[in-house]
Amino acid sequence: MGDINKLIIGQSAAAKELKRLIQLVAPSPATVLVQGETGTGKELVAKAIHDQSKRRGNLIAVNCAAIPSELLESELFGHEKGAFTGAVSSRPGRIEQAADGTLFLDEIGDMPIALQSKLLRVLESKNIQRVGGNGEKNVDFRLVCATHQNLQAKIDSGEFRSDLYYRINVFPIDVPNLSVRIVDIPLLIEFILNEMNLIDSKARPIFDKTALDALTKYDWPGNIRELKNVIERASVLFYGKNVNNENVKQNLIKLKAPVEEEQAALWEASGSLNENESLFQEELTQQLPTAENFRSWFEFHSFIDMRRHLRDIEIVLIEAALEKTNGLVGQAADLLKIRRTTLIEKIKKFVIEKPPS
Ligand SMILES: Nc1ncnc2c1ncn2[C@@H]1O[C@H](COP(=O)(O)OP(=O)(O)OP(=O)(O)O)[C@@H](O)[C@H]1O
Ligand SMILES: [Mg+2]
Repeated sequence: MGDINKLIIGQSAAAKELKRLIQLVAPSPATVLVQGETGTGKELVAKAIHDQSKRRGNLIAVNCAAIPSELLESELFGHEKGAFTGAVSSRPGRIEQAADGTLFLDEIGDMPIALQSKLLRVLESKNIQRVGGNGEKNVDFRLVCATHQNLQAKIDSGEFRSDLYYRINVFPIDVPNLSVRIVDIPLLIEFILNEMNLIDSKARPIFDKTALDALTKYDWPGNIRELKNVIERASVLFYGKNVNNENVKQNLIKLKAPVEEEQAALWEASGSLNENESLFQEELTQQLPTAENFRSWFEFHSFIDMRRHLRDIEIVLIEAALEKTNGLVGQAADLLKIRRTTLIEKIKKFVIEKPPS
């Protein structure tokens, strides 16, 4: 069993509370439902729970969103030889592999409804049956589930079984957004840089006070994963160099690669605009990102969850429009240049709450 403080970094009240809950529940066999927004560290929480549980077996993780639904069943339950075309030999499933250990079902909200029924049966009996097999086998495993989705909304729309929800929601843990633990940012930066194992310690980017200030003022929609990306980006763009607040805003968060000339021009402009500096800043930050910006942004990421990203943008714009019109849907639709009925559909689909009009 490792030291939880070495696994989950942070001394903020929110981080301490998170670690307290993990240590409280870990030794018990209780099922845990880890909820939180993207990049908050849900998978890390699952790791910590297993690590602190003293269970002898392994931690086996299955990402329900990443495995095609037709393969997920045999992945979880295993299969016997000849169960389907291509099943040339029998194979234990991930549940069996988690015997005496922990099964981590990530993105449980994406599990197909038919499989949800089968999982529920397993949770009730602790017996599993391989695909194409007849015998049942008892497996002792501890279940940890995670999701970034609102399961209650999925229940309402008929996509998630409420009985399964009550089965898995025995001990809920909400992983806080980075924006409520910004005091942890310096510690996290140190940890991330150490983890990157830069061979030459001189290669580290050095964040000055203004840079740290800018990093703590940003709201981090991508949470700790986004912070990690920013730090990794800094180590490429500012190899062994100082980083200031301007660099943070323009090159790290906005993802614009610095060009020497541009940098000089920027400094000149901000120098001559001294007293109007805030105005200058505002103009820069008020520009809408263009589609082309996303291309350069993507250059610095290995992948992007495109559907989720586009959905998040829609949600933010719809919420903003509803705020502007005090919840009047017709007017909000006009502002967004979409049809009223389209907006109503989206509000339902994304479960957006209208401000009281
Ligand atoms: N408190 C923390 N201390 C150190 N590293 C952290 C912490 N929280 C998260 N991380 C790191 O941030 C990254 C994202 O965490 P993780 O994958 O657990 O998030 P997630 O909530 O599962 O994200 P997603 O919803 O996108 O799947 C990982 O590299 C993880 O190790
Ligand atoms: Mg995850």
